[in-house]
Amino acid sequence: MTFTVAIDGPAAAGKGTISKAVAAHFGFAHLDTGLLYRAVGAKVLAGEAAIAAAEALDPADLENDDLRTPAVAQAASEVAVIPQVRAALVAFQQNFARREGGAVLDGRDIGTVICPHADAKLFVTASADCRAMRRFEELTAKGMDIAFETVLVDVKERDARDRSRATAPLVPADDAVLLDTSDLTIDDAVAQAIAIIEAARR
Ligand code: C5P
Repeated sequence: MTFTVAIDGPAAAGKGTISKAVAAHFGFAHLDTGLLYRAVGAKVLAGEAAIAAAEALDPADLENDDLRTPAVAQAASEVAVIPQVRAALVAFQQNFARREGGAVLDGRDIGTVICPHADAKLFVTASADCRAMRRFEELTAKGMDIAFETVLVDVKERDARDRSRATAPLVPADDAVLLDTSDLTIDDAVAQAIAIIEAARR
């Protein structure tokens, strides 16, 4: 059995939390595709060339806690603009999507470019302030010393870059179900996502 769930949306909208919970609920595998771009971004910060780094990316490169910093997030959104970087990462994502037992992929272009025929598509959003506050709480809980304003600027800059790029911009697929999590608890957001996927399975 293959079943692909595509979950897209802007930075810190709750995609990661929802994707992990949904994958656990249905017993599907989960791929956070942002990590691919973050791993390439981290290599560029370390002095490598973006396209070569994307072409040589190893799944082991994704197992790195340092990929979660705002500096790496910015570098990720910069390399994500380069068409050859995106092209180098397509096959890995599509193979993951087709894996036996079902898969959830979260990112920016899963429902539009990577898996246009996904069985279920969600576009998860929330207001910029709300997303920045969640990311701020996540980073400070990890002990990072960072100002809320810095996180808000990072989130807005990345959104603008993700939405305006020529290749695979951040945009909801025509057949995606919108899920605004601004006023939802995590449990409610997850329950709604599960209901949307259940409906697609019937
Ligand atoms: O989701 P996350 O915040 O980890 O993604 C980091 C950056 O990687 C995003 O700002 C975006 O520019 C890029 N990205 C992308 N396509 C994806 C996933 C992430 O362009 N499918």
